[in-house]
Amino acid sequence: MTSATSLFAPVDADLCLLTDNLKQLVGARHPILYAAAEHLFGAGGKRLRPAIVLLISRATAPDFEISSRHRRLAEITEMIHTASLVHDDVVDESELRRGVPTVHSSFGNRVAVLAGDFLFAQSSWYLANLDNLEVVKLLSQVIMDLAEGEIQQGLNRFDTGTTLDAYLEKSYYKTASLMANSAQAAGVLSEVPEATATSLYNYGRHIGLAFQIVDDLLDFTASMDALGKPAGSDLKSGNLTAPVLYALEEKPYLEVLIEREFAQEGDLEQAIALVLASNGIERSRELATHHAQLAGQYMAQLPASESRQALMSLTDYVLSRGY
Ligand code: IPE
Ligand code: IPE
Ligand code: MG
Ligand code: MG
Repeated sequence: MTSATSLFAPVDADLCLLTDNLKQLVGARHPILYAAAEHLFGAGGKRLRPAIVLLISRATAPDFEISSRHRRLAEITEMIHTASLVHDDVVDESELRRGVPTVHSSFGNRVAVLAGDFLFAQSSWYLANLDNLEVVKLLSQVIMDLAEGEIQQGLNRFDTGTTLDAYLEKSYYKTASLMANSAQAAGVLSEVPEATATSLYNYGRHIGLAFQIVDDLLDFTASMDALGKPAGSDLKSGNLTAPVLYALEEKPYLEVLIEREFAQEGDLEQAIALVLASNGIERSRELATHHAQLAGQYMAQLPASESRQALMSLTDYVLSRGY
């Protein structure tokens, strides 16, 4: 499988190994899970999170050598992420992921819920087996945060009183927490000083926020073909993201449309047009840029290396990505 960006070059071979391992780790136990694992890990995921873990491992480990525990951490990170997507697609009733039909649309909701649970459970098992309590705590916190994020999102649907701060908090729980805590955990496995571990956490936190904001604006500006998942679906399901929250400041009628949950014909199309006609997309991009720059500043605190350079350049990649 080719990588989403040439920036993953220092860990390309490691990512190939990771994909094979994930299929085996998840699929060995059960035919249906084997099918789901093939489907999930064989498809076009960007593998951004394990790439970050592996690059940080290379940047911080003695002799820049990635240990087997670093590799396992990268696998756990992608497993947790994928589990959250399998469940997210059930909640969002989404039919397409990574360019292929979602687990629930291929195998039914029952299998998707069980497969997601299985992935979470299995990631916890491998996590415990790393035998590092600090890392266990960091990644267990992520699993709690993911649930918190989905719950916050579920409770605030169609709520035009949602603040940008609330949106960012939810985005931290849903997306940035995994990047922040897995980045820190990679440093912990390399036994970096505490200040470096904190910088790694903050790098992950800010690149994660930038990544989610860009995901939310791509939902308005990109096509389903480009994304490998449905576009234009956040607003429809009442998920008010940065572009909408900014647009609401300029376009009062948008509030009317959202409050009545697009009950009348043409409401949704009109709402999307209002968002696109506002400065919402541009301001969201500025917000993402702000967080990407902060991420870069934290990464600059690490000693220079090829991997650190890739991690710094990734902050541009998350802004410019088209899928
Ligand atoms: C999707 O993440 C979920 C979000 C946080 C927006 P990715 O866009 O990284 O998904 P894959 O792993 O590449 O499919
Ligand atoms: C991110 O949220 C998914 C999780 C981190 C659970 P989204 O709902 O925006 O992700 P996509 O757009 O379905 O990939
Ligand atoms: Mg979704
Ligand atoms: Mg999205």
